[in-house]
Amino acid sequence: MSIGTSERRSGGHARVTGSQKFVADIGLEQMLHVRLVHLNCGHARIVSIDTAQALAVPGVVSVLTAAELPQPMPRYGPVFNDRPVLAVGETKYHGQPVAAVAAESKEVAEAAAELVRVQHEELPGVFTVAAALDPASPLVQEPELRPNDPLNHTNVLSERRFGWGDVESARADLVVENVYTFPMITHFAIEPHAFIAAAEDDGVAVWTPTQNPFQMQRILATVLGLPVAKVRVHALDPGGAFGGKQHPKYEPLVALLALRTGRPVRLVLTLEETFQEVRRTSCEIRARTGFNRDGTISFQDIQSDFLMGAYADIAERVIDKSNYLGCGPYRVPNSRTVVRALFSHTTPSTAFRGFGTPQVSWAHESQMDDAARKLGIDRVEIRLRNLAGKGEAFLPGDTPADGDWAVSVRKAADAIGWGTALSPGRGRGLAVAVKAGATTGASYSIVRLHWDGSATVLAGTSDMGQGARTVLAQVAAHELGIPHEWITIVMGDTATVPFDLQTSASRSTVFMGQAVMRACQDIKAQLKQMAAELHAPDAPVVELLRARFSAVRGEVIGVGSYRGEYQPEHPLGGAPSFYEFTCTASEVEVDEGTGEMLLVRHVTVADVGKALNPQHVEMQDEGAAVMGLGHTLMEHILLDDSGRIRNLGALDYRIPTTKDLPLEMHSLLVENADGPGPYGSKGAGEGGLMATAPAVASAVTEATGVVIRDLPLTPERVWLAINEKDA
Ligand code: MTE
Ligand code: MOS
Repeated sequence: MSIGTSERRSGGHARVTGSQKFVADIGLEQMLHVRLVHLNCGHARIVSIDTAQALAVPGVVSVLTAAELPQPMPRYGPVFNDRPVLAVGETKYHGQPVAAVAAESKEVAEAAAELVRVQHEELPGVFTVAAALDPASPLVQEPELRPNDPLNHTNVLSERRFGWGDVESARADLVVENVYTFPMITHFAIEPHAFIAAAEDDGVAVWTPTQNPFQMQRILATVLGLPVAKVRVHALDPGGAFGGKQHPKYEPLVALLALRTGRPVRLVLTLEETFQEVRRTSCEIRARTGFNRDGTISFQDIQSDFLMGAYADIAERVIDKSNYLGCGPYRVPNSRTVVRALFSHTTPSTAFRGFGTPQVSWAHESQMDDAARKLGIDRVEIRLRNLAGKGEAFLPGDTPADGDWAVSVRKAADAIGWGTALSPGRGRGLAVAVKAGATTGASYSIVRLHWDGSATVLAGTSDMGQGARTVLAQVAAHELGIPHEWITIVMGDTATVPFDLQTSASRSTVFMGQAVMRACQDIKAQLKQMAAELHAPDAPVVELLRARFSAVRGEVIGVGSYRGEYQPEHPLGGAPSFYEFTCTASEVEVDEGTGEMLLVRHVTVADVGKALNPQHVEMQDEGAAVMGLGHTLMEHILLDDSGRIRNLGALDYRIPTTKDLPLEMHSLLVENADGPGPYGSKGAGEGGLMATAPAVASAVTEATGVVIRDLPLTPERVWLAINEKDA
């Protein structure tokens, strides 16, 4: 019934009319307003902090610095407990908060924050991959934070190796070697990131647009020394998150402030502060790829260096997971990837739509193009010759290719008009990418079938705009055989909904979808039993419910769960439950006089197994594609020599607007019902941006003859490259 139809988005009306309540819209009685204090420099030693003047401002209730916090300073993170609540001894990046002012109004908090005097001394910093690797550079992280780690006197958090076969002795007719860079970029969600905390009975309640309410609850409980049950996280639907709201940021700070002042407190970040809060991991990838004359890959030899920033957050996982698939969706007989996660005096990096895949695909796809040009093989053809076939173990010992990926490539090639004549100044490009879907972790759902046949579904997923509410309701409606409109989805309150690992890795359709489906099946089994007891095997559900519940009242409660098991011997701790495969094709026209680009046509193809809601999936891919055009064409955080962000805010840091969109966009789907999710579905929603950069860059090369290996492809960069070639 409901499955495979484009049901209207639940919550969509509220989102587009602006009536949806975000955290910044919530006010609690007696609430204080928080303003962060930061320095206008990168790496600096804090000599002293004088809060007297700020405290003297009428309406200021508290000025918190590291000195007022528990000693040793509480530190937290999803994997490594390295991020302090406030800077201790030094600021490690531009914008790291050194103090927080809580006051009766936002205006007072802002004015008082200006009066906090921080004596400091600027220090040299690590802002680039080269500096992070230079033994003469300052150490970003205190060695005491990882006492038993042999790397603790370097800026390397971890170095990992992936691969198989023997790269050294592999022979090749052609070897291409190049270095690719991917810039720091910001998530740029439209919702300002906001946090509220209030003391509640003998615990604390926190309102945050987190993608990960249960991890938040666990980490807050640890930082505050409370039992998990005494921390309540109200995870409101985020107004866009894109990975940037997965892990704790300023929640521990507001919780500590609430407990200290005995008042509810709210912190709403400015857009500038969100740039300084978290970003995408930047990198430098050196790829040496061996090819046989027929275009098949002989070996892939990759040195990948990712600049994480000042604290680890989830960056190391991003780096490992993406580099584990650093060879892309190809059959590669010999492979070696050495990947380093590097600390720097820059904004910490984290998950970001695509989770490292756009970075690695930029390298492996541009290498394919280089080889195609040198070997005189068509760029689509060379990919088809190397693409893993369905069922092929392209990662030895791991989940085999779960889709017929060549179908996606042909579909994209057809849609872009591959091989047909081009107007002057134009070029086309096509690229692929593959991302490992979620590995380990559990999702639970409780479904309550009420006496009138309507149902309430409890699911700890976060709907940040991707449409999880709608899709989960569709699964429940289909399973229970009731209209979509009879279902209410409850999310985002750890005191109400059962555990879910997180909303990430496009896992919700598969993991939570299965949990909801199983909870509904549990209900159906109970109904069957009920029917047998009432000797009414063919009675309609509503009649059964009435017969059973009319006198005593009640409801049928179903419980379902889905788990990806932890596999300690697996390099990622567990095999990918599915792959997110994408193919992107683009046609562009380059103005050689200005380096500007007109995007004529842009195509994405997603292999989603089964589109539970086709319109949702298409819009997800379209949204992702536009986001990908951002890092491809214009987005990059620029630092000055002392690590300050030069383009802080929406004026100097551009994201695509409607004016930057391709004249034509197409999101196409491949559906073979070959995924592990309900009805054969796979995760979707990240794929559309994973191959944007190499596809567009390839088109630029065809149009102009220049090859660019650094993103973004700004008009300036393209123009300079064209002029250099002509000179
Ligand atoms: N779509 C919107 N509108 N807003 C978002 O923040 N995040 C993306 C994607 N689509 C995002 C989005 C990211 S990073 C992920 S991992 C998936 O949604 C998660 O959704 P799912 O688990 O429901 O597939
Ligand atoms: Mo998505 S980057 O996994 O939140």
